[in-house]
Amino acid sequence: MRLTLLATLCFTLGLPDLALAADLAAGKAKVDMVCAACHGANGVSVSDTIPNLAGQKTVYLENQLKALKDGSRKNAIMNAIAGQLSTDDISNVAAFFAAQSGATPTAKSALLPNLAKSNMAFPADFPKGYTKYHTINFPATKQVRYYYANPVAVAAAKEGREVGNGAYLMVEVYAAKLDADKKPIMGADGYYEADKLLFYTAMAREAGWGQDIPDMLRNAEWNYSAYTVAKQARAGVNQAECLACHKPLDQSSYMFTIKELTAAVKAK
Ligand code: HEC
Ligand code: HEC
Repeated sequence: MRLTLLATLCFTLGLPDLALAADLAAGKAKVDMVCAACHGANGVSVSDTIPNLAGQKTVYLENQLKALKDGSRKNAIMNAIAGQLSTDDISNVAAFFAAQSGATPTAKSALLPNLAKSNMAFPADFPKGYTKYHTINFPATKQVRYYYANPVAVAAAKEGREVGNGAYLMVEVYAAKLDADKKPIMGADGYYEADKLLFYTAMAREAGWGQDIPDMLRNAEWNYSAYTVAKQARAGVNQAECLACHKPLDQSSYMFTIKELTAAVKAK
């Protein structure tokens, strides 16, 4: 009776009555499974580049999530995640994070083990057997990146099929050679001349590799990894970020460069 009255009052005054409907337990369940990978289970984030949400105001959190969902606030990772939240999910997670106590500035949460862990290993024979299908200049970071696909990925692209299990895509990230003014030196082919290899990023898929990944982040059976020049897994990589950003590409094998791969292998 009292709740109804309050709800009616909120409605009459045009105030949001979401707070009445928020389900903290449902909010916590969603946070534990998905948001915790980056914002921590209690809203204390896992890295310096991800905001803490603990103790933030409920309405602020709701408004940000709505803006990230409809795209008026832009962030590739959060647009992909918020786009999958219902209005109820938004009020539940916002109420949950608002109810957590704020953190000290230096506190950090650990990565979620199932999302930090990748099943991938550096392919022993790389680049043997791989097709180099694309190059991109990155002016902001003065890098040039080379894109490679293994025979499974090449065959799928050639036949216009989904890139399936057994596929391996590798990206070499190089620092560009710089001139005396510290500007990248452009080669005759329109790409920066490569200097030192900095690291690799990669994605690969095998049966069962998606099973520990929650639906909101899962990319079929794809896993992601980054490697040092010594071909070791790079420390501190949060696979959740890779999964979140590539997630909306479910119609193109979760690949941003599928068109380039297809064009390169069909031309051969
Ligand atoms: C893969 C990492 C990742 C996951 C998982 C993730 N977030 Fe985020 N979130 C981010 C990043 C990065 C930002 C900063 C976006 C920006 O700079 O605009 C952010 C920003 C936000 C903001 C805005 C904060 C502010 O201060 O304005 C909210 C709210 C938020 N996330 C809620 C959530 C919720 C709820 C979930 C789970 C359903 C979630 N996030 C899952 C990475 C993540
Ligand atoms: C903010 C969004 C974003 C995040 C986060 C992200 N990627 Fe990507 N990824 C891209 C874009 C855009 C491309 C297209 C070309 C490029 O920018 O390199 C790409 C391309 C790739 C490719 C080449 C195949 C393809 O999909 O076209 C690989 C491999 C890759 N990313 C691996 C990773 C790994 C590993 C991580 C996590 C460590 C990661 N990505 C995180 C946006 C993202």
